[in-house]
Amino acid sequence: MKPNIQQAAVIGAGVMGAAIAAHLANADIPTILLDIVPPKFTPQDEAKGLSPDAPAFRNKLADSGLRNALKANPAAFYAPENAKLITTGNLEDHLSLLGKVDWIIEAVVERLDIKNGLFGKIETVRTPGTIVSTNTSGIPVADMCKGRSEDFRKHFVGAHFFNPPRYMKLLEIISGPETLPEVVGAVARIGEERLGKGIVYAKDTPNFVANRIGMYSMMRAIRVMQELGLTVEAVDKITGPVIGNPKSASFRTADLVGLDTMAHVASNVYDNAADDECRSEFEVPAVLKTMIERNFLGDKTNGGFYKKGADEKGNKEILSIDLNTFEYTPQEKVRFASLEAIKTLEETSDKMRGLYYAKDKAGQFTFKTLSESLIYTANRIPEIADDIVNIDNAMRWGFAREMGPFEAWDVLGVKKSTAKMKEAGYVIPSWVQAMLDAGIESFYKSENGARYFYDVASNTCKQLEIPPQIVLLPSLKDRNKTVAGNKGATLIDLGDGVACLEFHTKMNALGTDIISMMHKSADIVSRDFEGLVIGNHGVNFSAGANLYMILFAAQEEEWDDLHWEVAQLQKAFMKLKYLDKPVVAAPAGMALGGGCEVCLAADRVRAAAETYIGLVEVGVGLLPAGGGCKEMVIRNT
Ligand code: NAI
Repeated sequence: MKPNIQQAAVIGAGVMGAAIAAHLANADIPTILLDIVPPKFTPQDEAKGLSPDAPAFRNKLADSGLRNALKANPAAFYAPENAKLITTGNLEDHLSLLGKVDWIIEAVVERLDIKNGLFGKIETVRTPGTIVSTNTSGIPVADMCKGRSEDFRKHFVGAHFFNPPRYMKLLEIISGPETLPEVVGAVARIGEERLGKGIVYAKDTPNFVANRIGMYSMMRAIRVMQELGLTVEAVDKITGPVIGNPKSASFRTADLVGLDTMAHVASNVYDNAADDECRSEFEVPAVLKTMIERNFLGDKTNGGFYKKGADEKGNKEILSIDLNTFEYTPQEKVRFASLEAIKTLEETSDKMRGLYYAKDKAGQFTFKTLSESLIYTANRIPEIADDIVNIDNAMRWGFAREMGPFEAWDVLGVKKSTAKMKEAGYVIPSWVQAMLDAGIESFYKSENGARYFYDVASNTCKQLEIPPQIVLLPSLKDRNKTVAGNKGATLIDLGDGVACLEFHTKMNALGTDIISMMHKSADIVSRDFEGLVIGNHGVNFSAGANLYMILFAAQEEEWDDLHWEVAQLQKAFMKLKYLDKPVVAAPAGMALGGGCEVCLAADRVRAAAETYIGLVEVGVGLLPAGGGCKEMVIRNT
């Protein structure tokens, strides 16, 4: 195998291929993007002055894929100039270029015959040792390398990116029957270290991990919605953020994916997983079939479960489909006693519990769909993955959920929820029962700074291996590495003479507690440490100053207090800027206003690729007061 991946090629410049090429370019990897020569030379091509031999015609599909990636929203490229790292071409004139690259990624249409034919062509030019991967959503990897040489088969692997590849963290890796472990290792390494992906090792089964479970949940949501007579908008309300799913919940997600694609993915399980005890669930529901027949495919046809419309006054509104009449009507206000009761709860886990154990229709829907989905998922071990950790990671990273299924089950209480499931007539998966019988009442637990998961094969708890390059602040806190702290921030000893200042307020907004910890940390680090890192595990590094606090002080005309607070913030930043030990800020997510000013006060900034940073309060008419304006001037003179 080639030791390092320095150059790549992507074949197929459609939705996925072009976006994968863009993300490789984001990681500074020069990439060749090839597609077929368009099958027909059209009058429109002629009108544009093209000829059948002209590269502009022959490379048209790859070129337009690249253009689409440049226009994509959300952006596929970190910066448009990264596109310069991509060389477009076609599979007839430029096939030999594949002989020079270290990784060939196939992302062409989801058809085994087409993929097989392409691999045959690749084999004629590929240098031995070059990794070839497929982005298939569910075709068995084993079937794809049939007829290929031994060297090809050993270097062939499934590497399934999720859409959009820049933003979705999940990369499923699927070994074929002969894939070398070092090939799996190389793809995992480049995925994790250069492309920022989370790796899940999946087995070569229909739809692999995330789409197998995700599609089951979607099919059940449609059927149970109909059984209980719920509306599309009601189901989205109870399957969205209240249970830790993204705002797009069930049906907005379906519209994004495309109903035809969804039906295709569901059918893949129906057709290929003969032994699945829930196989019939993957038969496309009648309502979905009707919607597809009527071309209600989702966003791509301007209407799916939802459609943009206007009310009588012409104001824009989003209509939802009535699945009895297939007409689009204004959305109903969704009201449930259970939703009302959990409204004021802060934590998703409390909300989810509230809904699951509620008696009204929202509760019944949640109990039924969640229980069935948990049971289905548990029954997929070891079929689709060997352990619960891979499954939880797949569902969190592939569907942007806050919790994986087993983490969610822990939140519901395994003992309590299984008792309710049994009462409702469900059969609890035997290994879950065995776990409970062994006195183990949760899938995960933390002890002395280490995290353990329940290992199905051995019926014991195993420690989660944390790679040495990963620092987990909660684990250090559990091991008494806290140096100082208050409600807003903690200073933690990372070892090697380095301390980390962690913010932990809501949205990591900067208030009195964090400001005082910045002062204190600067003093402690100056005295007892070699350097300071400012970073945290929050979704956002810091959303900036706590504007409520400022507004409140202004409303109360507490001008002296306000003045003192701003002065303290400025002094804290100056203390960090002139500290006699190095300060490194490590932002990720939002670093706005004061969050940006923390970074401006550091000696170095080690930013995650997805960091959104700036003095954005200017946009609402506020002047950044922590010293950020001055730092910007310094940097621009
Ligand atoms: P697409 O339809 O957008 O693009 C497919 C590309 O393949 C087109 O550019 C087409 O010109 C090219 N192509 C067609 N026939 C070909 C041939 N004989 N040889 C070489 N190229 C040919 O498809 P999309 O969505 O990009 O999917 C590509 C692969 O990625 C599929 O295997 C799909 O299952 C998988 N996938 C798709 C996801 C999605 O959300 N669209 C997500 C994850 C995986």
